[in-house]
Amino acid sequence: MSRTLSPETIATVKATAPALQEHGVAITTRMYERLFVDPEVKALFDMAAQASGEQPRRLAAAILAFAQNVDKLDVLKPAIERMAGRHVATHVKPEHYPSVANALLPAIKDVLGDAVDDRVLGAWGEAYWFLADILIAREAALYADQAAEAA
Ligand code: HEM
Repeated sequence: MSRTLSPETIATVKATAPALQEHGVAITTRMYERLFVDPEVKALFDMAAQASGEQPRRLAAAILAFAQNVDKLDVLKPAIERMAGRHVATHVKPEHYPSVANALLPAIKDVLGDAVDDRVLGAWGEAYWFLADILIAREAALYADQAAEAA
């Protein structure tokens, strides 16, 4: 795990999480508008939707919820295993993570406007990448297992 979060970042994310989640549906909707401009990323979700319809729309809400527990990774562990498994099943790759960050963070700003400043957005960006790094590492291990089994 390469990144660590400062106590200030953790405090900012936790303090603002309830407000972000209150507007979770609006933020999620806006995030997908931004995310699905990229056809390659959209195709990942098109395939996933056939498997479990509602799930893609919950992605932003899940990120908002999980960010609250960035300082309690033991609590997140089972959820991280599930997410990584789902991501591998839907062929999510490391290069997709910037697309979600670049859709989610501006979506937060679009919806909450002046209620969020650069400090808050910066803290959420750090929390996103903290979780993303953990997921990317776990998914790399799962892809390697798959490749070993196929060999
Ligand atoms: C920190 C970043 C991320 C978090 C916290 C996250 C979280 C989640 C969660 C909670 C689920 C549902 C898992 C379940 O079914 O139990 C999920 C599924 C999924 N995620 Fe992510 N995700 C992240 C990044 C990404 C990225 C970068 C992509 C690709 C653009 C992506 C694409 C998907 C897809 C396609 C599904 C499956 C949807 C379905 O089951 O229908 N996620 N993610």
